[in-house]
Amino acid sequence: MNRTILQIGFGNFGATHLAAWRSLGLADGLYVIDPSPEARQRCRDLGVPWDHVGEAAAAFLDLADLVVVLAPTDRHFEVCQPLLASGKHLFIEKPMTATLAEAVRLRDLCRDQVVQVGFYFRAHPLAQIVKREVVDGRLGDLRYISARFHGYKRARGDSGVVGNDAVHFIDQANWMMDALPVAVDAVTRDHFGRGYDDLALIRLFYPSGALAHIEVGCIQPGRWNDNIVPGSTQTKEFVVAGSEGGAEIDYQTHQLRLHRVRHELVDGLWRPNNRGVEMPHAPVAEPFQVVAGEFAAFLDAVDGKAPLLAGIEECGVGMARILDAIHRSASQENRITL
Ligand SMILES: NC(=O)c1ccc[n+]([C@@H]2O[C@H](COP(=O)([O-])OP(=O)(O)OC[C@H]3O[C@@H](n4cnc5c(N)ncnc54)[C@H](O)[C@@H]3O)[C@@H](O)[C@H]2O)c1
Repeated sequence: MNRTILQIGFGNFGATHLAAWRSLGLADGLYVIDPSPEARQRCRDLGVPWDHVGEAAAAFLDLADLVVVLAPTDRHFEVCQPLLASGKHLFIEKPMTATLAEAVRLRDLCRDQVVQVGFYFRAHPLAQIVKREVVDGRLGDLRYISARFHGYKRARGDSGVVGNDAVHFIDQANWMMDALPVAVDAVTRDHFGRGYDDLALIRLFYPSGALAHIEVGCIQPGRWNDNIVPGSTQTKEFVVAGSEGGAEIDYQTHQLRLHRVRHELVDGLWRPNNRGVEMPHAPVAEPFQVVAGEFAAFLDAVDGKAPLLAGIEECGVGMARILDAIHRSASQENRITL
């Protein structure tokens, strides 16, 4: 089916979105706006026809069936307000808004359109294998998730590492646990004095008693070169521990290890009954392919063929509530109940 898509913003992540629409065969119907002349030129240099590129949304909004918001996070609220009121289906990059109050106001503006938040890892093939393991009970009851997302990279002007990086793994933890946390605590630091965190240690407490611990930062080493932002380094690891085994994802090397292990009481001691490690094969997913997976899920939801991958209540408002609690916990130095 032909689609007319309006992409709002063409910064660092813009080319990845363009490549994703191309891989789905839908780039002919893509229109892009960005207030920056350099961004518009970059977009045209990548082959988007000159009359599909503009400065303001009004130029193409009437044409568009779907709108993708790829502006800086602190602009999402002002950009999305009129779009929601117009009833357009919306894909909003993560995090949906800069504040909880903005997230609630956007949710309240929704009519019956589809709104998906851009939680990339829900469409990542390795995360999807682990999610299937969890849903099918092969890891048993989930006990603990530990995730590390850090490395030397630019400190963004629109958000800190909690809003930019931790959100990915908080969402992934919530998705694996199939629940939102009931409490959080966090410590953060702002070494650059930007008013945004550049280091954060976060703990999430789930209704089942399970825990998650997430370390993020742009001031400590990352083991690998980043595959999205040139010149940056990244460690991007996500580990799930359940009563019947564990899963370790290394997103930078594209490796997944599934541990088949259960502790058993033998001669008065809890010992691991280790039935081995599996390394399932998954084709390497380039970032544009993962984004294409998110878009395909978005289109399926728009067509009523599938439930939403990352909806506004859980991934927009729910996530904003968690981020707000993390910031309050860090400033008050205590645990916040949600
Ligand atoms: N899902 C992911 O893995 C992922 C990865 C990177 C970025 N992101 C998210 O995507 C968004 C954009 O990130 P980026 O790295 O491309 O940012 P960026 O700062 O590199 O680019 C943002 C672009 O938006 C334009 N812009 C500014 N105000 C605008 C407005 N009012 N309307 C339209 N365009 C406007 C700017 O001119 C710029 O070209 C952020 O919310 C970020 O968190 C998500």
